Amino acid sequence: MIPQAIIDKIFDTAPIEEVVGEYVSLKRAGANYKGLCPFHDDKNASMSVSPSKGIFKCFSCGQGGNIFQFIMEHEGVSYPLAIKHLADKYNIPIEEGQIDVNELKEEARVKEGVYACLEFARKHFYERLNESQDGKVIYKPYLNERGINQQTIDKFSIGLSGTHKSHLLDEGLKNGYGAQQLFDAGLVKKISDDGGVIESNLRDTFIERIVFPIFNVSGKVLGFGGRIIKKDTKAPKYLNSPETVVYEKRKELYGLSVAKNDIRIKDQVFLVEGYMDVVSLNQSGVENVVAASGTAFTEEQARLIKRFSHNITMLFDGDVAGVNASLKHISTLLAADLNVRVALFPADEDPDSFIQKRGTAEFQGYVAEKAQNFIELIAEIKLGDNKHDPIKKAEAARSVAENIAALPDPLKRAAFINEAAALFEIPERILVDEVNKFKLDNRRQKDREVRREARVEEQHRNDGPPPDFDYVPDYGEMHTPPALLEDKKNYQEEELLKTLILYADKEFDEEQTVAQFIFKELEEDEIWPVSEDLAPIFKEAHAYLEEHKVLNELYFIRNATTSKVAAEVLSMRYTISPGWFDNFEKVVKTDEDGYKHQVVQNLNYVKLKHIEILMLENQESLKEAETEEDIKISLEVQANLQEFRKKITDQLGNVIR
Ligand code: CTP
Ligand code: MN
Repeated sequence: MIPQAIIDKIFDTAPIEEVVGEYVSLKRAGANYKGLCPFHDDKNASMSVSPSKGIFKCFSCGQGGNIFQFIMEHEGVSYPLAIKHLADKYNIPIEEGQIDVNELKEEARVKEGVYACLEFARKHFYERLNESQDGKVIYKPYLNERGINQQTIDKFSIGLSGTHKSHLLDEGLKNGYGAQQLFDAGLVKKISDDGGVIESNLRDTFIERIVFPIFNVSGKVLGFGGRIIKKDTKAPKYLNSPETVVYEKRKELYGLSVAKNDIRIKDQVFLVEGYMDVVSLNQSGVENVVAASGTAFTEEQARLIKRFSHNITMLFDGDVAGVNASLKHISTLLAADLNVRVALFPADEDPDSFIQKRGTAEFQGYVAEKAQNFIELIAEIKLGDNKHDPIKKAEAARSVAENIAALPDPLKRAAFINEAAALFEIPERILVDEVNKFKLDNRRQKDREVRREARVEEQHRNDGPPPDFDYVPDYGEMHTPPALLEDKKNYQEEELLKTLILYADKEFDEEQTVAQFIFKELEEDEIWPVSEDLAPIFKEAHAYLEEHKVLNELYFIRNATTSKVAAEVLSMRYTISPGWFDNFEKVVKTDEDGYKHQVVQNLNYVKLKHIEILMLENQESLKEAETEEDIKISLEVQANLQEFRKKITDQLGNVIR
């Protein structure tokens, strides 16, 4: 068990706006903050964060809770790991054994081990670059010659891998990491596919390479990109970590953890192709820069960027590869509703070489002058100097129409159609038709994909999963607070809980608070909630009240099992969202004393539920009754219960939910 004192310490040290702000760009909105919800494809800043209450809540997809819920959802980890994550981040010491690793499910354990290995490797590589002979006489001079200084090496934690094939493997094993862990981290690979994950069949992934650690948005090492500097070799110039349980390439962007603040401040991000471009631009004072590192730009990456800024400028080489890459990325970026511009560099330059040669001011001037939108870019690429070639013009217009069709915003579509019509001297009407054709095609394509996916899924159900799907993450239920709000079976008890959260420490009458009144009623009438999820919550809250003499919303916000429902009911009071009045009028009465009425109502509903359960049980015993006496008793009980029920329903005003 993790001591409550540590959890409280984290709550007191880690402001929710900072924890969430690490991943999402937040804007102030009165006493709260708003931002794009990272848990669904959000377009309207549906997520609200309340610093005073310590909760976040998305009004669109329903996610909500305290800081730990946020980390659990965002990093896909269990509750203890979320605690550990924030404790580490805020330097709150957790002693050996306070988080019992055996408590963590297998998946969480694997991840934890993999992160530890990667962090170990980062440190080891970094020390090698800075302290080993090779580092000092070959590799660091190479970086320095390319204009990279020590400060930048430190900032990006650039390192040097081992020079023989089991350097990191040996070091890792010596330092207590397992062969399997190093393998799961992608740091070592198998020599022979048929052999197992055992020391004799493993070798380092990175040998004689300068390594760039790849961090996630919050600064955890996920993997590495390694550059070889020897020229006389057939080995690829760059080698990257494989996908692992922690590194999903399509979800990450190189440099984001370093760049994110500057991206926010400038409300603008540069997308470049390589590690060196990011590092070198950063050193020259252009810090709002990230790289997609070789892979095609994905929807997930677009969404990640969007949390920090909607304005993206691609800085790509002007060679054929760069042009093709930029065209390929554009439609993904446009479809994600990002404002995209592209600046192509001269054919033999990349952003790194350009800024090293000509300096920051000239670089910025060049980008400002060259950056163009996708229509101008396509016109330049497809038309070149043949501005009036009708065939080329048609081809370019078609390509533009295809990209316009990807835009989700109809106003933007109209504006770009307008611009394209003028540029290509083609009637708007014709462009509109063309755009619509592509939109129709896209929709059909999507339908086909959906159907295909459904078929594949169907097949999996019949055949079982394909072999590479054998790693099924299981975060375990034991440590994951139950999703209270999804389960409508416990409606009455849940409503009572909500009332308790909202009004626990308010006065009920001169002698007692709402919480005291509710628990007294539960005890006296023996109507303790019976549902599996909620009964322990009431019991625990009661024990807490007995012990501490106070119970308020803070208790429910900080409690792992109730923070989600607390976020839901408490956020009602500070943010008005559409549907608020329809859905929650009942929960949130605004008149001064309305809450007392509500407390009584909800207690009555719970009583009613109990009576109904008792009546059902009694009917069962009536069926099984064997003697006259038994039958008589059962009938009496039934009559009593009916009478009791009538009293309550009369009190409730005949409103039975
Ligand atoms: N890349 C890769 N594998 C390769 C070559 C390239 O993954 N074999 C990726 C790397 O992320 C690299 C990017 O593509 O950073 C751009 O490649 P390139 O332009 O060749 O390298 P630079 O980043 O310019 O590196 P350098 O200046 O050191 O040559
Ligand atoms: Mn380069």
